[in-house]
This record gives sequence, structure tokens and C-alpha cells, in this order.
Amino acid sequence: MVSAAAARLFLLLISVNLIPTTPIVEEQPFKAIDGGFGVALGKSRKRVFPVLHIQEPNPILEAYGYCNTPNHTEQAWEGHSPADYKLLSVHVMIRHGDRYPLYFIPKTRRPSIDCTLSGSRKPTHPLLKSFISHMSQGGQGHWEAPLSSVPRLPNHSVCETGELTQTGVVQHLRNGQLLQQAYKHHNLLSPDWAPRQLWVETTGKGRTLQSGLAFLYGFLPNFDWSKLTVRHQWSTLYCGSACDCPARNRYLDEEQRRQYRLRVADTELERNYVDMAQTLGVPTRQLRAANPVDSLLCHLCHDLSFPCVPAGGCLTMAQFAVIRRQQLDDEADRRRVGLYHKYAILAMYPYLNRTASKMERVAKSSEAGRRPRAAGEEVFTLSSAHDVTVAPLLSALGLEEARFPRFAARVVFELWRSPPTTQGQPKKKAGIAKHGEVFIRVLYNGEDVTFHTTFCRSHERRAGQPLCPLMNFLSFVRRDMFSIVNATSYQDACFTHSG
Ligand SMILES: *[C@@H]1O[C@H](CO)[C@@H](O)[C@H](O)[C@H]1NC(C)=O
Ligand SMILES: *[C@@H]1O[C@H](CO)[C@@H](O)[C@H](O)[C@H]1NC(C)=O
Ligand SMILES: *[C@@H]1O[C@H](CO)[C@@H](O)[C@H](O)[C@H]1NC(C)=O
Ligand SMILES: *[C@@H]1O[C@H](CO)[C@@H](O)[C@H](O)[C@H]1NC(C)=O
Repeated sequence: MVSAAAARLFLLLISVNLIPTTPIVEEQPFKAIDGGFGVALGKSRKRVFPVLHIQEPNPILEAYGYCNTPNHTEQAWEGHSPADYKLLSVHVMIRHGDRYPLYFIPKTRRPSIDCTLSGSRKPTHPLLKSFISHMSQGGQGHWEAPLSSVPRLPNHSVCETGELTQTGVVQHLRNGQLLQQAYKHHNLLSPDWAPRQLWVETTGKGRTLQSGLAFLYGFLPNFDWSKLTVRHQWSTLYCGSACDCPARNRYLDEEQRRQYRLRVADTELERNYVDMAQTLGVPTRQLRAANPVDSLLCHLCHDLSFPCVPAGGCLTMAQFAVIRRQQLDDEADRRRVGLYHKYAILAMYPYLNRTASKMERVAKSSEAGRRPRAAGEEVFTLSSAHDVTVAPLLSALGLEEARFPRFAARVVFELWRSPPTTQGQPKKKAGIAKHGEVFIRVLYNGEDVTFHTTFCRSHERRAGQPLCPLMNFLSFVRRDMFSIVNATSYQDACFTHSG
């Protein structure tokens, strides 16, 4: 991820179009699908949406936000609802936690980080020890095909490329525990939950699988392995059997061309690369191809000084800031041009469609008077993914202003039912009000962003409804979201429109 800005033209040319069809490419070296950064941090408290700022966003502060260092308690608004509302189901999409770089800076030493887990190293977590021992019993779980051979814990004293670090594990133990706290009064999963009620899926990388398990352990400490099936998603877009979409690939190509043009027009960035290459004594082209921001971010997040070479000197924070500044410019340009949004709509439809169907199923079964928990519906879904999954998900939902997904970012969908109407209240549409109505909440990194989404932006808590009706989301996913590409369905958008 992270990479981003660093995408070199030739890398771009050889890797274009990989995303939808290559299993697990996450984090390719271009920004369109992989990494940029969201907008600025608010002054004091972190916000999903930036406060209006007169000054340029500070690229260094922004980078610290991206690290998501687990050193302070977090606000989490999950599980908040009006009194008497009943929580029906929760669907979570996470990005994996802190990881070792995917790219390395030529002629310099790799950051020195130990990827084994140890309670005596910081950051740590009260659940870390029992998590490690619980993972050793993972053989009792059910694993979809390629997953059984993926290690369940990071365990290299010199981290491997892209390996999850202890920081990454702790980030997700904390995430899981936050949601455990948020939902414990809502009895989402009873202690004797049925296997069908929990759906866990991950791409085939160690860092996503391990992140998902850490999250799950924080959420359900000492869960019963024999009830767990971990499912495999071969595509980073979570598009399953509906990945074929030529129009999506075209939008991505165009987006990458936009990104390339913006980058080569940035003379400060170009000078910066020449500078850095000189420091290291390597050709500029080689330095650029090494995507130095990925490795520099790792140094920053782990409080390690930037790399040096004996003769030339060290890379500097100022150089890093120039790359990050360009990434922020790119984010703004991306929003302005809108190609990425169209890509994202088509990329995330299969996931959103699946989520919408699950919600509708749970809502129907609860309306039929069966308790969804008793009926064994899926009430908790965890999808462990990458920045190239979470970024298009945010864009597809219309959360264009949200910050680029940091390590261990989380998007949470909650499904709620209001209390049944009682006599004396105004009559609502027959048949609906009797059981109460169903609502959706959307949260990003703990902040309620429901009323920033495309499908609920104009709802604005009118009609005395404090939440967003599920129907808004269903119509959006099934039809309205395609209007941006001048279509009315996925099929239509992917195959009919060639322009
Ligand atoms: C947490 O770590 C970040 C990044 O290292 C640092 O900027 C911040 O001040 C720390 N916060 C606390 C509360 O220690
Ligand atoms: C990690 O690797 C070491 C050395 O290869 C091994 O002894 C240890 O059991 C492993 N730990 C886990 C939790 O897999
Ligand atoms: C959308 O979801 C429905 C219900 O699960 C399914 O039948 C349909 O095939 C899905 N459509 C696509 C294009 O994935
Ligand atoms: C959308 O489709 C309509 C009808 O096919 C067409 O007239 C219109 O030009 C299209 N608009 C765009 C922006 O493609």
C-alpha cells in the first residue's frame, strides 16, 4: 500500500489490470488502487472527516495518523442506538494491521523489526498471551482450501516482506475488544452461538488472516475453534464469482493515467527523487521504482530514524514530506476527477450486494417473529482485507472525504430494528410498523458516518427517524448506485456501456 505515489511508469505499464484477476495482489505500487492518504487531521482529535482548514494539510501529522499507533484509548460509537432498538446484525470490513514494508530502499539496511510476538515487547495487550496459545489450537478450526497452510501468527525474528508486526496484532486485538464492549449489552452472539451465525473471510495473505484472527479473538476471546470456518476470498475486491467487469478495468486504466500525469507534472516531486537518489548514490529511476515512501512510513511508525548510507548521508523528513504532500494532492485530484469513484462503484458492488442480501435475510427472519439468533442467521460477518479493498468501499459508499484507510482501519455496518409501534402512535404503512422498522448505521474507525453516505446524505434524520432506513441502502445497492455510470444494474454498467 502505501506506495502510492511512487508508482513508476514502467511498473504501471506492466501491472495494469492485475487487480481483478490476480489472486491477492493487494498493495500494488500505484495509488489508484493502493494508496494515497486521506485529508487532513483535525487539530486536536482525530476525525474521519477533516475540519475545514485554511492551511495545507500537514503531511507528517497525516502520516502519524496512518500508523495508528495503539498508545491511547479510542472513542468508538459502535452499538449506539435510540433506546429499545434491537441490534440484528453487524458486518465488519477491516484492513490488516501494521506490517513490514513491501518495498526496500536500495543500498540501505532494512528496518530492524522483530515479528515474533512477545508480551514483554511494546506495544502489548492483556489478551496477547492467551491469543498466542489459542492460535496454536487452530488445527481444530475449519479452513477453506489455501488457508490451512497460511501461518496463524507472525513468527519471524527478522520480519519478512509484508509480514504483520506485533503492533498490527495489538491493533486488531484492540479493535475486536472495542466491538466486544460495544455490543455486549446487545447480546449479538450468545455464549452458545451457532456456527452459522458467524461468518469470517480473508484473503490468502498471512497479514490479513492473522489480523482477522486477532480481531476475532478480541471480539470473542477463547472462541470455540470447532465452530469456526474461515473462508477464503481470492480477490482483494471480494468480488467472488462476479469479478468480470470490463468497464471497471477501463475506469482503472484511466484513473492510473490521470495519476501518472499528475505525478510527472509535479516538479518538486521529481527534484525530490533526484535528491534522494543522489544521497544514496543510485539512479533516480531505481530509487523511484523502490517506492521509498512505503519503507519510510515503516520507519516513522516504528520510531526508527530514516535510513542512511555511509558516504552520502541520510534520507530526511523533508524529503518524506514532499512525497506525502504529493499523495495528498493526488487524493484531492482523484476526488475532483471522479474516475476512481466510478471504478469503486463497480469494484465494490459484489461485496455490497452480498451484504445487502444478508441484511435483508436477517431483517425478514426477525420480522417473521423468529429470533435471528435462534434461527441461526449470520449475525456477525468479519471480512479481513487490504487498503485496496477498504479505499474503494469508502468511495463507493460516497465517503469520498474520508481519510485513506490507515493500518487496522475498520468499516462497520449495523442493522437495527425499532420497537414495534404501540397503540396511540400514528399509523404507519401496514405490516411494517407492527414489527418495527429496520435501519442501517455505517461507521468508519468508530465514527458514525451514516449521514455522509450517498444513500443517506439527504435523509438527515427527518421524520423523527434518528437512523437511516435499510431500504435506502437496498435501493442504492440494487439500482441507484449505478446512475453515476449511467446504468441501472451491474450487468448493464459492466458490459453494455463502452464509453
Ligand atoms: C502515540 O504515538 C504517536 C506516534 O508515535 C505520537 O505522536 C503520540 O503523541 C502518542 N500519543 C500518546 C498519547 O502517547
Ligand atoms: C515460532 O517459531 C519458533 C522457531 O521456529 C518456534 O519454536 C515456535 O514454536 C514458533 N511459535 C509459534 C507460536 O508458532
Ligand atoms: C446479488 O445478490 C443476489 C442475492 O444474493 C444474488 O442472487 C445475485 O446473483 C447478486 N448479483 C450479483 C451480480 O452478484
Ligand atoms: C446516458 O445514457 C443516455 C441514454 O442512453 C444518453 O442519452 C446519455 O448521453 C448518457 N450520458 C452519459 C453521460 O453517458
